[in-house]
Amino acid sequence: MKIKTADFVVSNTNVEKCPQDKIPEYAFIGRSNVGKSSLINMLMERKDLAKTSGKPGKTQLINHFKINNEWFLVDLPGYGYAQVSKTKRKKFQGYITDYFKKREQLVCAFVLVDSRHDPQKIDLEFMQFLGENQIPFGIVFTKVDKLPSSKLNKQITSYKRKVLEYWESLPVNFLTSSSNKHGREELLNFIDSVNKDVADDFNQK
Ligand code: GTP
Ligand code: MG
Repeated sequence: MKIKTADFVVSNTNVEKCPQDKIPEYAFIGRSNVGKSSLINMLMERKDLAKTSGKPGKTQLINHFKINNEWFLVDLPGYGYAQVSKTKRKKFQGYITDYFKKREQLVCAFVLVDSRHDPQKIDLEFMQFLGENQIPFGIVFTKVDKLPSSKLNKQITSYKRKVLEYWESLPVNFLTSSSNKHGREELLNFIDSVNKDVADDFNQK
């Protein structure tokens, strides 16, 4: 898919106030610092479209970006960030959960996991939550540039094995790097194919 336009639309903490356009939407979720915002910039080939930081906890709002005037990409705050206060964390969790439960345009969530790490309880639980709410999701392994390929393969294989303990079949998954653009075409092609699959549903809305 060719990216012609990528525009920031709005940030907020309330799913009811998200843009009303009836177009397919994709959300990036995962632990803080996993690389959600960086991946958005990489996909869009824009340096500062989404705000990134070396310190976890950068993204604190639901951020909508409109792509090619045809679909939305959503950057969300990370979950499982211990350094923010308990009250703040609860507030994040509240509006993130609400967003996933109520956002009708959402056609696929991408759960980002750091390719260097073993499966984390919080990620597996979040996938469970998506499943319980009938939200299709894929797994995006991030920062693959940080591992030598033999180690990477081993890590990914064991990650997939763990996921299969919980799921009958493996969710669609991608290996990505925001540093060297690995996985960009695959991820964009996938989004393109989903956009085509759901086009009829959206035209009827
Ligand atoms: P929060 O908004 O805090 O939840 O974090 P985030 O998931 O949006 O992470 P962000 O994109 O801000 O990136 C966190 C850090 O990881 C930054 O220092 C990035 O430069 C770095 N990073 C992200 N993706 C990659 C990658 O693919 N490769 C490498 N080497 N570094 C990456
Ligand atoms: Mg971010």
